[in-house]
Amino acid sequence: MAKTILITGGLGYIGSHTAVVFLQAGYEVVIIDNLSNSTRDIQSQIETITWMSCTLYVGDIADDALLNQIFTTHSIACVIHFAAKKAVGESCAMPFDYYDTNIGGTLTLCRAMIRHGVAQIVFSSSATVYDASKSPAPFAEEALLGTTNPYGTTKLVVEYILRDLATYQWLHATCLRYFNPIGAHPSGLIGENPRGIPNNLTPYIFAVAKGELPHLAVYGNDYETPDGTCIRDYIHVIDLASAHLAAYTHGTKVAWKWCYECVNLGTGNGKSVLEMIAAVETVTGRAIPYVIAPRRAWDIAISLADVSKADTLWWWKATYSVEQAIMDGRRFIQWHEQPWK
Ligand code: NAD
Ligand code: WQD
Repeated sequence: MAKTILITGGLGYIGSHTAVVFLQAGYEVVIIDNLSNSTRDIQSQIETITWMSCTLYVGDIADDALLNQIFTTHSIACVIHFAAKKAVGESCAMPFDYYDTNIGGTLTLCRAMIRHGVAQIVFSSSATVYDASKSPAPFAEEALLGTTNPYGTTKLVVEYILRDLATYQWLHATCLRYFNPIGAHPSGLIGENPRGIPNNLTPYIFAVAKGELPHLAVYGNDYETPDGTCIRDYIHVIDLASAHLAAYTHGTKVAWKWCYECVNLGTGNGKSVLEMIAAVETVTGRAIPYVIAPRRAWDIAISLADVSKADTLWWWKATYSVEQAIMDGRRFIQWHEQPWK
C-alpha cells in the first residue's frame, strides 16, 4: 500500500511543488495549510498536474486537536514541514509572531508526531543559519552558525530542537538548508505568488518586467564581489522539491544512530543581482530599470552552498539552470496571473 506523507504548508510555493513530486512518485499526500500565504485552488492545480488527488485540511499547525484528527485518520510515514512565516524584514518588525508560528507551531507538531508514533520529519531550514562573518562562502554544513534576524533565529532554534528530539525521543529529523529557491513548475500551474509587494529578488524583477512596479532597487553595489552586488545561489524549485523525496527515502534506510542530518540544497554556483537582472532581460526580452539603493541590514555579500553532502548521502544534485528557472517562473506569471502585456 502507498505510504502517506503529511505536508505542512503544502499549498505554499515549495510545498506545492513537493506535493507534486511525492504524488508522482506514488505516495498518498495529506496537506495541512492555514491559507495565510496561499489559496485553496492550489490543491486543484496540484491535482491537475499529477492527475491524482490529495487530501487537504485547512487549519493551523498549532491546532493540536486538528493534528490529533489528522494523525488518527491517516497512517503518516513522514511529515515534510514547510509551514512557517518567511519574510525577514517582517520578522524584525513582529518577532513574536515568528517565534509563535515557526517555533511554537513546530513544537505542537512534533509533540503530536511523537504522541502518534510518527517518527520521521523533513524540516525546511535555510541558508540564513550560516554565520557568514565567521565562515566565508561556500558554506559546508559544519560551518559556524549564527543569525542576524528573528526569522533566521527561528530556523536555527528549530534545528536545535530537532537535534534534541532525534537524540532523546527517537525522532528521525533531516533539516534541509535551502539557498535561494526560484522558478516554477514547467506547466505554469503552480509557482511563487507572493501577496503584496514582493520581498525576494526574482518576484520583484518579474513585477518590474510586467510594468507593475517602475524599477528595481538594487540593495548595495559596494560589496566585495566582482560587480559590487550580492551573490546568491539560486536553485530551481523543482530541484528543491525532488531533494525532499531523496531526503525522505534516505531517511527510511539509515540506521537510527544517524537520525539527525542537516543538508544544504543549492547548486554551488552563484549569480550577482546585476547578473540576475541581465538573465531576466535575456529570457523575457524586457528591459529591467533599476536604481542603486542602500544595503539591507541583514544582507551578506556572498551566499553559496557547498553541495557535496547531498551528493555523497543521496547522490542528489541540482540539474536546472537559472535561465530555465526564470523561463518557468515567467510562464507561471504569464498563464496564472494577468497576461504578460
Ligand atoms: P510559502 O509562504 O509559500 O508557504 C508556506 C505555506 O505554509 C503557505 O501556504 C502558508 O499558508 C502555510 N502556513 C504558514 N503558517 C502556517 C501555519 N501556522 N499553519 C499551517 N499552514 C501555515 O513559503 P515557501 O517559500 O514555500 O517556504 C516554505 C518553507 O521553506 C518555509 O518554512 C520557509 O521558511 C522555508 N524557506 C523558504 C525559502 C524561500 O526563499 N522561499 C528559503 C529558505 C527556507
Ligand atoms: C537576493 C539578493 C538582495 C530584492 C532570503 C532570506 C533567506 C531565504 C531566501 C528563507 C540580495 C537583492 C533583493 C530587491 C535587491 N529565505 N535584492 N532588490 O535575502 O538572499 O534570502 O530569501 O529562508 O533567509 O533572507 O533573498 O531574494 O531577498 O535577495 O537588490 O528588491 O537580491 O539584496 O542580495 P536573500 P532575496
